[in-house]
Amino acid sequence: MSGVPQPRAQKTFYLETFGCQMNVHDSEKVVGTLLEEGYQQVDSIEKADLILYNTCSIRDKAEQKVFHRLADYKKLQAEGKKFGVLGCVAQQEGEKIFERAPHVSLVCGSASYTKLPEMLVQLDGKSRAADSGAADSGFLASLAMTNAGEGLGNEELTSLGSADETVRRSTDNLVRITGLDDRQTDKCFETEFTARTNPHRGYITIIEGCDKFCAYCVVPFTRGKERSRTSHSVLAEARQMADLGYSEIQLLGQNVNSYRDPSGNKSFAELLVAVGEVAGIRRVRFTTSHPRDFGRDIVEAIDARPALCNHVHLPVQSGSTRLLDAMQRLYTREQYLERIAWMKAARREISITTDVIVGFPGETEADFSQTLSLLDEVGYDGVFSFKYSARPNTPALKLDDAIPEEEKSRRLEVLMARQREIQVARYKRYVGIGCEVMVEGYNDSRAQWIGRTSQNKTLNFTVSAGPVPVVGSYVSVLVTRSFPNSLVGEMVGLVG
Ligand code: 5AD
Ligand code: SF4
Repeated sequence: MSGVPQPRAQKTFYLETFGCQMNVHDSEKVVGTLLEEGYQQVDSIEKADLILYNTCSIRDKAEQKVFHRLADYKKLQAEGKKFGVLGCVAQQEGEKIFERAPHVSLVCGSASYTKLPEMLVQLDGKSRAADSGAADSGFLASLAMTNAGEGLGNEELTSLGSADETVRRSTDNLVRITGLDDRQTDKCFETEFTARTNPHRGYITIIEGCDKFCAYCVVPFTRGKERSRTSHSVLAEARQMADLGYSEIQLLGQNVNSYRDPSGNKSFAELLVAVGEVAGIRRVRFTTSHPRDFGRDIVEAIDARPALCNHVHLPVQSGSTRLLDAMQRLYTREQYLERIAWMKAARREISITTDVIVGFPGETEADFSQTLSLLDEVGYDGVFSFKYSARPNTPALKLDDAIPEEEKSRRLEVLMARQREIQVARYKRYVGIGCEVMVEGYNDSRAQWIGRTSQNKTLNFTVSAGPVPVVGSYVSVLVTRSFPNSLVGEMVGLVG
């Protein structure tokens, strides 16, 4: 048999995603890229040759989760499995990951995903060389210098073509590859190989990175500077999705409404309208909006175009202007409430949700009670609340007056209890009202269909007579009961 090339079994990968919708969508692009490179996706670590974690570092807990996962499966390295860390923890921790989890072979931040194909070739090629003991000893010597972009004595290394990638061999003969572009990258991760997981509603990234530098937030350091895609390329992707049968599009960005069309054509509100006008698109969502850049034109667009969903996620973080200033949020409580007033004055009822941080350094009882009163004043349909978590590199690290963990927990509980009461009352208002939902699936254990309203509320429903709904279609539902986080109803009919 010697000399006859043996077909290699198809390489397999398992990918687990942590964190926000940006990460979920990045993972869809990473999966698409890997499939294109000949890998097959599998649903368990046991079946995989390559195990990837797309990580989140927004709070310490999220970051620790990844290192726990890596520790849990470390033993599988002996079976020849390789591990890769992608996303924000990769970007933030860089090569330190190799020290903390020496069995990791690949570290790749989100700004370097365009180079994943080359990195995979490196990983595959180098590990085969390592397996067969054919590594070039001179290679090792040259590696120490690759970070400086000098002394590249190896063809395969130079083919990576960038000074910020390193291929390194550790003492235990593992190949280690990093791809970590700096904050200054202008690139967006645009790829035609996006493996979207849902065939009816899908994400489109319109802006990446963040230049706001809120005092608590690690994102500007992990996702780089703000960069928008052209409206032309966003609309082309929307049309392509509509052709494939998608009817709902969710525009994504860390600050989606800070969008600046590089071709100078469209404002964010105009882009929303244009996506809503794509034939076949019935719903357009967008997240996350920054209050500073939230213009009245967005509200006007929602009011005028039923295809634009009447839901806005507008993170406030705190109800105290003093604290907003310390957080470097660039708006006051009054300015935030002015934006809320615009939405409340709209003809369509716009559902509003938010994010809140409790226990930011120096948050007094008075600051906190202003956050509670803001919840009452706005009447949110949903609040994502978090205990402040100190993050590397962020300006807030230098602030004194840390709030004890128990006090943060207490404030979080108080806030959640108050918001629960608000939501009970708000959701109750929908009983007896008809809503159009997109059918998302069927829950066997509850014997209920799962639907989502334009306002992004979950509306589960039963069908006593008439046609059976199809997942991805739109039906009309009469709301019969309410809970703090969802509604229940009965289908009235299909919507054409
Ligand atoms: N600690 C706690 N919460 C944070 N968030 C961002 N950074 C931190 C941090 N260091 C929250 C904010 C943001 C949401 C995505 O996560 O509320 O809007
Ligand atoms: Fe983080 Fe602030 Fe940027 Fe949002 S706007 S990603 S909270 S720095």
